[in-house]
Amino acid sequence: MKITSKIVHVGGCTDEKTGAISTPIYQTATFRHPALGQSTGFDYTRTKNPTRMAAEEAIALLEEGAGGCAFSSGMAAVTAVLMLYNSGDHLAVVSDCYGGTYRVLDKVFSRLGLSVTFADTSDVRTVAAAVTPATKGILVETPTNPLMKIADIRGIVALARRHGLHTIVDNTFLTPYFQRPLTLGADLVIHSGTKYLAGHNDLLCGLVAAREKELADRVAFIQNSTGGVLSPGDSWLLIRGIKTLALRMDKHDSNARQIAEWLVRHPRISAVHYPGLDGHPGKELHDSQASGYGGMLAFEVDEAALAPRILSRVKLVKFAESLGGVESLITFPAVQTHADIPPALREELGITDRLLRLSVGIEDAGDIIADLAQAII
Ligand SMILES: Cc1ncc(COP(=O)(O)O)c(C=O)c1O
Repeated sequence: MKITSKIVHVGGCTDEKTGAISTPIYQTATFRHPALGQSTGFDYTRTKNPTRMAAEEAIALLEEGAGGCAFSSGMAAVTAVLMLYNSGDHLAVVSDCYGGTYRVLDKVFSRLGLSVTFADTSDVRTVAAAVTPATKGILVETPTNPLMKIADIRGIVALARRHGLHTIVDNTFLTPYFQRPLTLGADLVIHSGTKYLAGHNDLLCGLVAAREKELADRVAFIQNSTGGVLSPGDSWLLIRGIKTLALRMDKHDSNARQIAEWLVRHPRISAVHYPGLDGHPGKELHDSQASGYGGMLAFEVDEAALAPRILSRVKLVKFAESLGGVESLITFPAVQTHADIPPALREELGITDRLLRLSVGIEDAGDIIADLAQAII
């Protein structure tokens, strides 16, 4: 079956009694035991819940993994993966990662003895140079957030395998509809499901899928032990959102291509970062590992004073954090999503006070362009 069909049928219900098409919300904390020593397969919702299980099976199916786990936020999913490692271990992590991932590594896991080297993952040689005898994993985002740099997933997997490390890919920006890292050899995929998977800016959730059952079981053990699980109601909303993922991603992608091309020609825009543009340094590599470019782009304006002016003038496009929902959102990474990255490092990475990030929604592309046109003055 093609992924478009798989997406529509996620979370299908197998209730013979009623024939319900949609998996119900099993709003229960606990489950009655049939008899001493017996279980229905469900005992307590932190451990396993039928609605959450349907969401977990969905992510495993779409990412082509052996198992999946659903968490109460993307950061809970990132945290559960980081908990696979021990004090004294080291990770190589994409340098312009999501600011929250930087923060949890820098402020929380560093206290617990997990060390990190941030590396430009668009060059496998830079990642190789960051590997030490203590390294246990390489964490990449591709495209990166917000600069849309591309990492060579196959190249990083090869490097990781030579050293016996995990390859972890945060696949939030593209979703399994456009990119399936586990099929390229990655060990773990992480999602902020809050974004494209749920797709409507109405819930927080996080997902992990693992290529092998042993690793999926270890993440599930951490999930049950630490408890950051997705609620039954939000699991249902996530499944509902996923069902239109293919339609939404195609529209995000075609809108973003048109907007990126329009921005390139705008006299006040000095750079546009979008992997679908000819001339993007990672385009060819991206095309070799993904089937679309998605709806995220970043652009630089020609003077710092213009950035806040655009944020105050947009109308259809909302000035708000987050991404991946049906509504177009614009953010100022240096002061919002990436504020926790120290200013000098931000500047070095190119996350300047002239850079804005646009999550292109599924409105009419002409309307989004008209809104940007009246704002960029
Ligand atoms: C790439 C990426 N990973 C992880 C996260 C964290 O997800 P959440 O906000 O659902 O905790 C985000 C949030 O913006 C993100 O953009």
